[in-house]
Amino acid sequence: MNLERVRAGALLGSLVALAVVGCAIGTTTTMGSGDPVADRQRLMKNVGANWAEIQSKVKAGNAEAVAVNAEVLSLHAQRITSYFPEGSLSDKSKAKPDIWQKWPEFKAAAKNLENRAGTLRDQAIAKDAAAVTTTVATFGRDACGTCHTPFRVPPPQQPAAPRS
Ligand code: HEC
Repeated sequence: MNLERVRAGALLGSLVALAVVGCAIGTTTTMGSGDPVADRQRLMKNVGANWAEIQSKVKAGNAEAVAVNAEVLSLHAQRITSYFPEGSLSDKSKAKPDIWQKWPEFKAAAKNLENRAGTLRDQAIAKDAAAVTTTVATFGRDACGTCHTPFRVPPPQQPAAPRS
């Protein structure tokens, strides 16, 4: 075999490899808007909207219809941690620095939401309205509160009623 050809082939091979690596890096850095606080607040707003819809469907006796919303929660939960790069805090963020000190717990809280939402979705698909209602009754505390309590600055309290 011609040595020059072998060399040219090897060079071409490394150029292709470099291009592939370049694309991979490009993909990660361009994900989202580039502002992780805005991105995760947007994600969480949609989590909140789907959770509100789940509750109103159950109240309206339409428990089987929550499958689509539960699936959204499960999919969103898979990407929560990717919107919390180390130290991404701003005066607009309600995230606590504890997130990065207790990263395994934070990750577990996201996984917990993914799993519980998956259970809820399966119960809805199985048309088990009783199971859906039971899961929804404690979902806010067990799937959202388990992360918000340790890792989110609580929303401002209602001002205390004036004393009479
Ligand atoms: C793994 C942790 C985690 C889980 C699970 C989680 N959240 Fe959050 N959520 C956060 C953090 C942290 C913030 C604050 C983000 C910030 O301001 O930077 C937040 C913010 C929010 C906000 C405010 C968004 C805004 O407008 O700024 C809403 C609404 C919300 N979460 C709803 C929910 C609901 C509903 C659930 C459960 C179905 C849930 N979250 C589950 C961590 C979590």
